[in-house]
Amino acid sequence: MRLLYSRFPTRYSCHAPTFLHLSSVDKPDSSPVLIAIDGPAASGKSSVARTLAARLGYGYVNSGAFYRAVTWFVLEQGVDPNDSAPVADLLEKARVNCWLQDGASIITFDGIDPEPHLRESRINSYVSTVASIPEIRTGLTGKLRDLAASQNTVMEGRDIGSAVFPRTPYKFYIDASPEVRAMRRQLQEGGGPQHDQILARDYTDSTRRTSPLVIAEDAHVIDSSRLTIDGVVGEIIGRLKLKGLAVGG
Ligand code: DC
Repeated sequence: MRLLYSRFPTRYSCHAPTFLHLSSVDKPDSSPVLIAIDGPAASGKSSVARTLAARLGYGYVNSGAFYRAVTWFVLEQGVDPNDSAPVADLLEKARVNCWLQDGASIITFDGIDPEPHLRESRINSYVSTVASIPEIRTGLTGKLRDLAASQNTVMEGRDIGSAVFPRTPYKFYIDASPEVRAMRRQLQEGGGPQHDQILARDYTDSTRRTSPLVIAEDAHVIDSSRLTIDGVVGEIIGRLKLKGLAVGG
């Protein structure tokens, strides 16, 4: 399988890690493997994707963190997230870098890593608005493709199987009932003041014009409501084996 990679604006620089994971599926002449894990907010996909990547020795990319990081930058710069043209302009001019380190993705803006701020309630409130701006999606899609260009990767998000890597044969959509998702997010927030409005975000993410949250036609859907993380990972690994991917075990 060959993945098609687009060109990126020069300021949007993302680069391959300085080390490569080599596993039994690597051949010198083959494209890296990309496993896409999509799903709505609090479906459990982050824990599943991180665990799967660790088990396979693949890189792990949380694309939602990139959209959150852009939202942080927009708010820090005092730009109105509802005003798409200045938001797009801001990002066009910013020095944005991303890379994989110890198997996980990092993104910086003018040298600053916003990671500690990504779960703040102001980010929860505006991230879907920022993520609906087509120029932002184009820029980040380029970065995500670039990151996965040179090593096997598990990437989670909303449009990874449908829009970012539509040609990967390894697509999973993790879902859970609204009640279970609300409970999981509440537990994650530890009773704090964040109150992530996950259903509102799901609605915005599913109804936006550019690459909305959809179930890719060829995705394998897993309802994680009654499964543990290891249960979901086990189901994914079983499916990967059925598809002929050498994943060990
Ligand atoms: O996975 P998350 O809840 O941290 O993602 C935050 C937001 O980022 C989500 O509400 C929509 C957006 N997002 C997106 O539009 N496309 C992606 N591939 C990943 C996230």
